[in-house]
Amino acid sequence: MSKKFYITTPIYYPSASPHLGHAYCTTLCDVIVRGKRMRGFETFFLTGLDEHGEKIQKNAEAKGVTPQEFVDEVATRFLSLWDAMKISNDDFIRTTQPRHEKTVQKIFSTMLEKGDIYLSTYTGWYCVHEESYWTATQVGDDHLCPECGRPCEKKDEEAYFYRCQKYVDDLLDFYDQNPLFITPESRKNEMVNTFIKPGLMDLCVSRTSFSWGIQVVENPSHVVYVWLDALTNYITALGYLQDDDSLFQKFWMDEETEIVHVIGADINRFHTIYWPMFLTSLGLRRPSRVFVHGLLMMKDGKMSKSKGNAISAYPLIERYGVDAVRYYLVSEVPFGQNGTFTPEQFVMRINQDLVNNFGNLMNRTVSMIIKYFGGVVPAYNAPCDALDEELDASIRATKVAYEALNDDLQVTQAYEKVMELISRANKYIEEKAPWALAKDEAKKGELEGVMARLAHVVYAGALMLSPILVEKCGEVYATLGIDKPDYEEIDKLGVLAGNEVHKGEVLFPRLDAVKETEAIIEMMNGPKEKAAA
Ligand code: MSP
Repeated sequence: MSKKFYITTPIYYPSASPHLGHAYCTTLCDVIVRGKRMRGFETFFLTGLDEHGEKIQKNAEAKGVTPQEFVDEVATRFLSLWDAMKISNDDFIRTTQPRHEKTVQKIFSTMLEKGDIYLSTYTGWYCVHEESYWTATQVGDDHLCPECGRPCEKKDEEAYFYRCQKYVDDLLDFYDQNPLFITPESRKNEMVNTFIKPGLMDLCVSRTSFSWGIQVVENPSHVVYVWLDALTNYITALGYLQDDDSLFQKFWMDEETEIVHVIGADINRFHTIYWPMFLTSLGLRRPSRVFVHGLLMMKDGKMSKSKGNAISAYPLIERYGVDAVRYYLVSEVPFGQNGTFTPEQFVMRINQDLVNNFGNLMNRTVSMIIKYFGGVVPAYNAPCDALDEELDASIRATKVAYEALNDDLQVTQAYEKVMELISRANKYIEEKAPWALAKDEAKKGELEGVMARLAHVVYAGALMLSPILVEKCGEVYATLGIDKPDYEEIDKLGVLAGNEVHKGEVLFPRLDAVKETEAIIEMMNGPKEKAAA
């Protein structure tokens, strides 16, 4: 039976157009899931939009349109971006869809019947931007939101509350029994020490001060709090409590399925404290892992639309191709850590890894196969020396490491291993000097082995890089005369023997550092978004 894997991105607020920071998270998830698919896992990849809440309502009012019109328009921008970034999601959930709204109402009713939700009054400091209430201590004397620094408003309203205290011990036991649940581990300590240990207050889960939300059936003046609404998308999209819940049974309830939520640190509290509690209330299993990734920053801090320092992915894709942008995101910002976008680093990363390393290896290999063997990949033969042995061992070891690192969500490191194999092969060319072997008839066998090995590294490299380089790997396969690339062939050295190679276009043209840095700076100053289709 194939292994099952379910991965989700946060559902983004369609309050403004998406930027490269949103693309970062979605691309990383896409790379992870494509890697699993290639290895034969049965997968489901979900992304979507979190369309309710006061902020959306206010943005729509400011534009003079209804909230639904507002989110419909922004949704097209997210969809165009995912299309341009070649995101392979299986579903796109929008919390205004009836399938979601009806299920959230059922979930709320279940929790109410069970006594996990009760009616009371809320007094607190509310940040419209973060959709969060804070205590007087948290907002301090200036009444500023501890998350975003914006002013909070004091609010008093009748509200439903979720009984957190009932589940807190169970949650801490769950953390202990599942040490990988929150990764990196520092993120778990933050939750326990900052939020749980000081005493977790019951969570306010309804609002009466605005109407753009899912109505509470039992009390229609209330709408469901946007976070209770939003978190449940991960199960409503799979058909939970709907006529056809086969995806839900397969990708959620089956204990064998690995469920991974990928999120930014800003929303860790909701995913690792409240979400597991909500699931326990509903008698459902909890996710396997919540992976907290770092942020893509700009030199002047977090990339954000409201700060006006966000860079759009479109001009980068147009100028350098989607593969270069995807590669940059995976390699430059180690998954789990913050990284800073700079034009210089973007250009350097592409030149160093894709042009000088991978593209160069392919180019040299193909040219030499054409020159020495009339364009036909020679047969692989037993190692002639320690260098051959070492390269063979590196190919196998890289596949093992690549899988283990990917399975552990150390995505950046997994792809670093592939680049190391490719640079090893470039160095092997210098060490073996095929041009010298070609001059000596007695060394013909050795030369055959060298070229067979190099062709195989190009093939293995392309297979392992294919979750990132969704366009260019096809060109590599065509160059090597491969019709049906097969990941399992990485271990089959010699499988390319007899293939006819073709010299195609340059895989990644070298970027002129000065000129391209200037071009990117211009993009950063230029129009920030592409108009919706
Ligand atoms: N709607 C909520 C999430 C609900 S999930 C049930 C939300 N939306 S958001 O639009 O603000 O998106 C937040 C997420 O977008 C972050 O957690 C992070 O994954 C991603 N990013 C937003 N800006 C980013 C960067 N600058 N860099 C990397 N990721 C970024 O919170």
